[in-house]
Amino acid sequence: MTRIETKNMRLHIVALIYCFKIVRGTELGQEVLRGPQSDLSDIIAPSRSYNGLNQHPPMGWNNWNAFGCEVSEEMLISTAQTIADYGLRDLGYEYIMMDDCWSIGRNLTGYLVPDPERFPNGIRHLADRLHAMGFKFGMYSSAGTLTCALYAGSLGFETEDAAFFAENHVDYLKYDNCYNNGLQGTPELSFNRYDTMSKALLATGRPIVYALCQWGTDYVWQWSQPISNSARMSGDIYDSFNRPDPGCITPDDAPSALALYKCSVMSILNTMATVQSMSRSGWFNDMDMLEVGNGGMDDNEYVTHFSMWAMLSSPLLISTDIVSISPADLSILSNPSVIALSQDPSPRAGSRIWKNECQDKDQFGLCDHQLWTRTMANGDKVIALINGGNGPATLTASLNDIFTDELTSGTYRLSRQYIEQKWDVYDLWANRMSVDDANVILNGSEASTVKSNVWYNSTELPYAEGLQINHPALLGGYVGEIEPHGKWAAEVARHGVGLYRLRKRGG
Ligand code: GAL
Repeated sequence: MTRIETKNMRLHIVALIYCFKIVRGTELGQEVLRGPQSDLSDIIAPSRSYNGLNQHPPMGWNNWNAFGCEVSEEMLISTAQTIADYGLRDLGYEYIMMDDCWSIGRNLTGYLVPDPERFPNGIRHLADRLHAMGFKFGMYSSAGTLTCALYAGSLGFETEDAAFFAENHVDYLKYDNCYNNGLQGTPELSFNRYDTMSKALLATGRPIVYALCQWGTDYVWQWSQPISNSARMSGDIYDSFNRPDPGCITPDDAPSALALYKCSVMSILNTMATVQSMSRSGWFNDMDMLEVGNGGMDDNEYVTHFSMWAMLSSPLLISTDIVSISPADLSILSNPSVIALSQDPSPRAGSRIWKNECQDKDQFGLCDHQLWTRTMANGDKVIALINGGNGPATLTASLNDIFTDELTSGTYRLSRQYIEQKWDVYDLWANRMSVDDANVILNGSEASTVKSNVWYNSTELPYAEGLQINHPALLGGYVGEIEPHGKWAAEVARHGVGLYRLRKRGG
């Protein structure tokens, strides 16, 4: 062996040892972060929200989509009572949120003055009543001189308004973007404007969830984690599955555009595909309030809407007139096995694996099929097969598709533990509450009288604990299995979704 060959060989050995160390180090690092049951996607370090709040997507009710400016103490209290009576509070819908239009301006010391006719006993009285009923209380303002409905905004009055919210026992602030004096158009301008309120809220010492409502402008998902608990990633939702509207400008069109509204469920979902990775415990992409119950979509469309908002860890904020809700809509909002996705101990958003154009176009000329997946804390995999076509379709996902995230994460070796396995399949809509059961609740019987695999009380047993003991209401209904290297085929209705939880056989 020449001197050069010996030197080369030594170099090879050194390189090999070095590589081994890196690989081993990575694996050990993953082990620590992953915990015993989880998967590679957990190598993203667990997040902490800036104020320690909002570890799971918030759930509740907001008046805006159904009532607009019609807010009052009476209406909020009676809605809260109905939410409790229908079992929704115990399913986790714990926030009662009042949107725009609640004040009559400022007093001489700069403090907001609630409308005395709508709130004859003041806001704190309202908050305390809601708290006594087991709810949390949310309010609204705008990072502008006026709110979107032309009431007093908080720009320049952040300290006074944060103090107002704290003194009035507010637990959640939705903070809008109207009349911002041109202080938008770059991430820095927006950051500074929203950061002022963030600091003011922290300074009060009261835990207040801080929810930005910036309509997905200025790349809000990139800079707002250190100062907030969620941010709207699109313009206002409207009650349509996929009707295109020129008012809905997506970030792809113009990241800094204002006046974003009339965004359909599918438009929001398509935008979410590009920003979902930012969602994590303590900070969530907010896909806007739910439209379930407002009448603009059919049952399949509302099921898809609700399923995907849960799958993607958006806040789940009902925004319909609960008092006159139909049994079918109540049964959508009451599905614990879908809510359990949203409240999983490891909150993050699902990701889109594929979106394929299809032939069966609807009246807007649209047709696509999509596969979304998400890994849950206990190692289960959830898949959502969406049929955006105009008629029923058989959609198929292979284990290779389903575990694409694992395959592409660099360690091909690990894919075997997914692909060469048998998976039991549970349909998360199989145990949907029947119309008869929903009517029993609407007619005044206790929600707890409904069968235990259909209804759930998270006040008594938090979702994390229910999942740990495999509570029957959280698993859906068993519908079959996927063989090693196999695939799952589902007949999915027009604009519907097949939503399944996959569990490793024997795992
Ligand atoms: C919009 C906001 C809506 C609602 C409305 C109130 O900007 O996105 O969710 O809060 O303002 O005026």
